[in-house]
Amino acid sequence: MKVGVLGAGQLGRMLALAGYPLGMRFRFLDPASEAPASHLAEQVVGEYEDEAALDRFVEGLDVVTYEFENVPVETVRRLGSRGCSVYPPPEALEVAQDRLVEKRFLRELGIATPEFASISTYDELKAAVSRIGLPAVLKTGRMGYDGKGQRVLREPGDVTEAWESLGGRALILESFVSFERELSVLAVRGRGGESVCYPLVQNEHRTGILRRSVCPAPMVTPELQSEAEDLARRVLDRLGYVGVLAIELFEVEGKLLANEMAPRVHNSGHWTLEGAETSQFENHLRSVVGLPLGSTAPRGYSVMLNLIGKVPDSASVLAVPGAHLHLYGKAERPGRKLGHITLSADDPQMLPSRVALVEELL
Ligand SMILES: Nc1ncnc2c1ncn2[C@@H]1O[C@H](COP(=O)(O)OP(=O)(O)OP(=O)(O)O)[C@@H](O)[C@H]1O
Ligand SMILES: [Mg+2]
Repeated sequence: MKVGVLGAGQLGRMLALAGYPLGMRFRFLDPASEAPASHLAEQVVGEYEDEAALDRFVEGLDVVTYEFENVPVETVRRLGSRGCSVYPPPEALEVAQDRLVEKRFLRELGIATPEFASISTYDELKAAVSRIGLPAVLKTGRMGYDGKGQRVLREPGDVTEAWESLGGRALILESFVSFERELSVLAVRGRGGESVCYPLVQNEHRTGILRRSVCPAPMVTPELQSEAEDLARRVLDRLGYVGVLAIELFEVEGKLLANEMAPRVHNSGHWTLEGAETSQFENHLRSVVGLPLGSTAPRGYSVMLNLIGKVPDSASVLAVPGAHLHLYGKAERPGRKLGHITLSADDPQMLPSRVALVEELL
């Protein structure tokens, strides 16, 4: 089986690492040379719209997937029209690339989201602020990641300033949710329509970037888990989805609001490499090539810590019991995800002291 992956970042790299034991081979397409996945597999360096690069990329592939949700939908459709199977379906990309389309889609499926309004002019912004109220979050409709392209509006004076920094493109205003916590659900749907879900994960963000995930999330009632699985399955089934899908959630008074979805493997699923029977990466590959899906049962308890901007000394990290280090081969740069550490233990009581040891190194 030769799998093509659009995007050659760390997610692609971890997909390849998970596919090799199953005898798979990989080729990546990414405009950035020396991308993290290129250290392990063939990489075609080229733009996603470049026909000649796409020709070199698809030659001899059995199936194509992507690790980056901003690959042009047109590229995925073009590959499909050449007879290449591409999963997840392009409709999933279309929905996930535009926050407004995404929120409308979720609402249509009966899934609760924060209040929102489409904004294209300053007057629309003022009207939306008076309808939704403050605090609120103004976001670019497209291309946001790691909290980029967002402004929190706390007082009326923030409105003009936020418009000056983000105005001029399609925006969305959302009510600011005072959530109790952030959770995410990762679900996998196979080619035959069967699906499995991982246990809910609890996520902590700082300056818009995921810092830490606790897996499984503590104090999740069976009702909350099934609410999350039910909403994820509605999305999967509506899209005829194949692969791993992540949905980021806010928990408010025991209920879930959907924030956004990612049609790919997700940072909040990295713990599954050591912490679940089958990792998200392996399950994504199993589904896109048509193999049976693997168990999503957790193995013990895990905490995943992202390495942002700087990489700690490997020896010090690995001296911590239960620590697993993953480095993506990227150069240090402020705000950049360079790797992650998963701490695992059979007894959840063991984790806080191990987390404290690692946090001293970060
Ligand atoms: N409406 C909201 N109310 C409260 N907090 C919010 C809201 N929207 C976003 N946030 C906070 O900002 C974080 C990043 O927002 P969001 O997920 O929309 O952006 P992103 O840039 O696509 O992030 P990423 O790519 O890292 O998932 C959220 O995880 C949450 O902590
Ligand atoms: Mg997000």
